[in-house]
Amino acid sequence: MSLLSRALRSTVALPTRSSPTLVAALLKTIAPSSSIVSAASFHTASAQLSKASSKEKASRTTKPHNEETASATAAADGGSNARTDNSITVEYPSDDKLPSSQPIIGAGRAGVHVFPTLATFSLQGKVGVVTGGARGLGLVMGQGMVISGADLAIVDLNKEEAAKQAKSIINQFKKDHPEAKRSVLPKVTAHYADVSDPASVETCIAEIVAEHGKIDNLVTSAGFTENFEAIAYPIDRMRKLWGVNVDGTYMFATAVARHLMERKSKGSMVFIGSMSGSIVNVPQPQAPYNAAKAAVRHLAASLSVEWAKAGIRVNCISPGYMLTALTQKILDDNPDLKKQWTSLIPQGHMGSPEDLMGPVTFLLSDASTYVTGADLRVDGGYTVT
Ligand SMILES: NC(=O)c1ccc[n+]([C@@H]2O[C@H](COP(=O)([O-])OP(=O)(O)OC[C@H]3O[C@@H](n4cnc5c(N)ncnc54)[C@H](O)[C@@H]3O)[C@@H](O)[C@H]2O)c1
Repeated sequence: MSLLSRALRSTVALPTRSSPTLVAALLKTIAPSSSIVSAASFHTASAQLSKASSKEKASRTTKPHNEETASATAAADGGSNARTDNSITVEYPSDDKLPSSQPIIGAGRAGVHVFPTLATFSLQGKVGVVTGGARGLGLVMGQGMVISGADLAIVDLNKEEAAKQAKSIINQFKKDHPEAKRSVLPKVTAHYADVSDPASVETCIAEIVAEHGKIDNLVTSAGFTENFEAIAYPIDRMRKLWGVNVDGTYMFATAVARHLMERKSKGSMVFIGSMSGSIVNVPQPQAPYNAAKAAVRHLAASLSVEWAKAGIRVNCISPGYMLTALTQKILDDNPDLKKQWTSLIPQGHMGSPEDLMGPVTFLLSDASTYVTGADLRVDGGYTVT
């Protein structure tokens, strides 16, 4: 049995509430060491590929059909660094093997500071919701919202972890602001929701409004990726992936928009897409994820137009490769993959979750009042090459 088919057989179960991020504990495809390239050789390969394809075009117009075989052979040989590779798989670590994500620590970077800044960047008085906020990017973006003055509702399949992290965000805030009185401490709460389930979303929104009185801002970070070659992608897994990444974003956004419209209040939302919504990652095959993230990006643009008259802004952040607890563990196990990924990033390194704190605060705050329907790529330049 091939590695891929063995992996497929062992991962057909869908996530449950008791196994909240089994969805994330999936197969990852790694690069064979032979396919690791430097940026320079990648570009040489690309140049050769584009030369080859213009030659191929020319030969199509001038040469007879018996030379098509030669073209096909050239296509099979070239382009290997710009292709997905379905031959090697590796299992994602399960949740119990992962360390918890850590909030950002350090005065001057994330905590108390004395540097002048625009008042419009503040989220003081706002209530923000972050889905998928118990871990990874969502956790740190939520913390950034709290540091910028907001109260926060963390929504996740894993409510226990969300509650633990809500406490650690407040504890860190107290350390950074030892002078803060109890009455000015931020309110950070934890809530269960499966964002792909309409009833769960409605219950969760009602719970947040009951505890916080209102919602002003939303960040949709609940999402996951997985790697199967398209021709073998189990349809139930594909539907689940779309259910969380696309339907989950849509259902949370529309529920928050209804709440804002009822209150006749302005609001700002940020959808977490991915650079995969604009480019095709290599070498790991992930067609449904890439398409789902393209949908998230265009959903943000579409809703921004529909809700502009209601004063609701909707933008998308498309991160590149970010080092979370999860990706760190995978890359520790697969250093070759990290080399291949970073060789394609102009800045030469992966992003950290902290790199999203500023962009998300900007887009949620009044510093970006005239920005709506935008896609802010935070990818070290990956998508411009
Ligand atoms: N890490 C990266 O390199 C990267 C890059 C680009 C985009 N993204 C996107 O950013 C988002 C966050 O990714 P991450 O790396 O922090 O992932 P992560 O797995 O560390 O965190 C995702 C969180 O979402 C929660 N979640 C999953 N399914 C859920 C559901 N149905 N309902 C509610 N919560 C659910 C998980 O429990 C987890 O806490 C995802 O949408 C991902 O696609 C990540």
